[in-house]
Amino acid sequence: MTGGNDRYDAVVLGAGAAGLMCAARAAQRGARVLLADHNETPGRKILISGGGRCNFTNIHTSPDRFLSGNRHFAKSALSRYTARDFLALVEAYGIAWHEKTLGQLFCDGSARQIVGLLLEECRKGGVELTLGQPTSGVTRDEGGFTLELGGRSIRAAQLVVATGGPSIPKLGASSFAYEAARQFGLKVVEPRPALVPLTLPGEELLFRELSGVSSDVVASHGKTRFHEAALFTHRGLSGPAILQISSYWYPGDEIGIDFLPGQAPELLVERKRAQPSLHFQSALRGLLPDRLAGALCSRLGLSGDLGNLPDKALRGAAARLKDWRFRPSGSEGFAKAEVTVGGVGTAGLSSKTMEAKNVPGLYFIGEGVDVTGWLGGYNFQWAWASGVAAAEAV
Ligand code: FDA
Repeated sequence: MTGGNDRYDAVVLGAGAAGLMCAARAAQRGARVLLADHNETPGRKILISGGGRCNFTNIHTSPDRFLSGNRHFAKSALSRYTARDFLALVEAYGIAWHEKTLGQLFCDGSARQIVGLLLEECRKGGVELTLGQPTSGVTRDEGGFTLELGGRSIRAAQLVVATGGPSIPKLGASSFAYEAARQFGLKVVEPRPALVPLTLPGEELLFRELSGVSSDVVASHGKTRFHEAALFTHRGLSGPAILQISSYWYPGDEIGIDFLPGQAPELLVERKRAQPSLHFQSALRGLLPDRLAGALCSRLGLSGDLGNLPDKALRGAAARLKDWRFRPSGSEGFAKAEVTVGGVGTAGLSSKTMEAKNVPGLYFIGEGVDVTGWLGGYNFQWAWASGVAAAEAV
C-alpha cells in the first residue's frame, strides 16, 4: 500500500557517482529525496576507481574529451558544474589530493573518502537511502511515478535514473537505464564496451608473447590519437593509450601504433650515418624496450649492420614502426570495460536539466546517457555535472 511516507518529490535510482551527487544536491535544495540502490554498498565503482584512490576529476575537462552522438550535449552541464567546483568540495572536506599526470586528480588517501564525502552531503540534505533492494515495475500517471522497491510501493513526482551502464556486471551494473528509456519511448544508442583492453587474433601471437611489456606509444584510430603507454597482455593490448583508443574502435577496424613517438621517419638512416657498424636490432634496442625491439625486429625481417642495409629498407622499417597496424579480434567486453559508450540518446533529453523531453519528471544522468569521457577522471566529472544539472531541476 502507498502510505504518505512513501511519497517523495524525487526518487533517485542508483547510488553511484551521479546518483549520490544528484540526491544530495536535490535534497539540499529542499526536495524530499529517496536514493535507492540494489547493491548493499553505495558507490562501488568509486571505491575501486583509480586503483583505490579515485581519479575524481580532470582539470582539463572540456566537451571535446567526451564521445556522444551529439558533441554539444555535455557542454551545458559541464560548464555549470566544473572540475574546480568538485575540487572545491573535496578541499572543503579536507581530502588531500594530487595531480598524477595529464590533469588527473586523485585522492592521496583512499577512494573511500569520496564516497564518505557524498554520503555526508546526502546526510546533510536529509536524503533517505535504501540499499540492497531490487526495483521493479516503474509506471507513470498524472501524479508522477510509482515503483516497487523491496516490497514497498513508492510514489514520486520525479524519477532520476542514475543506474549507470552495463560495464562490470559483477559490481551490480545493469541495463536498467536503457530498459527504462525504451519503456518511456526514448531511443538508446547501441551500447559498446569502452576503455577496455583489445584482443589480438592468433596470427599476432608474437605480440602476445610480450605479455607484461609496456611502451610509450601513440595509438590512433582515424584522426584520433592518444600519446600514452601501451601494455602487451597475454590476450592482446592494454594500457592507457589502448583503453583510450578502444572507445573509438568498432569490430573489424584497424588501429595504428606509433612505437617511436616524437622520432622523425629518417631516424634509422641518420643512425646509419652516425654508427654504420651498429646492428639493426641494437639500434631498435636503443629506442624501445628490449623484448619489444626483438619482436618487432623479427617481424620486420631486417638484420645485420645498419651500414649494410639500404636507406630505403631503413626508411620502410621506420615508417612501419611509426604506424604499425593491428586489427584487433575483439575487446575484453563489458566484464572488463571501465565504461560504456552509447546509452540513452541525447536527442530525447534536455541538455540543461537531463529531463526527458517527452516525459516530464523523468531524468537520466551519468553513464547511462550517451556521453562517455576519456580515461582520466572525465567520467566522474560527467557524473557530478549531470547529477547537479538534474538536481537543480527536480
Ligand atoms: P555507477 O555505476 O557509478 O552507479 C550506478 C549505480 O546504480 C550502482 O551503484 C548500481 O549498483 C546501481 N544500479 C544499477 N542497476 C540498478 C537497478 N536496477 N536498481 C537499483 N540500482 C541499480 N572514472 C573516472 O572518472 N575516474 C576513475 O578513476 C575511474 N576508474 C574506474 C575504474 C573501474 C574499474 C571502473 C569499472 C570504472 C572507472 N571509472 C572511472 C568510470 C566511473 O566509475 C563511471 O563512469 C561512474 O561510476 C559512472 O557513474 P554513474 O553514477 O553513472 O554509475
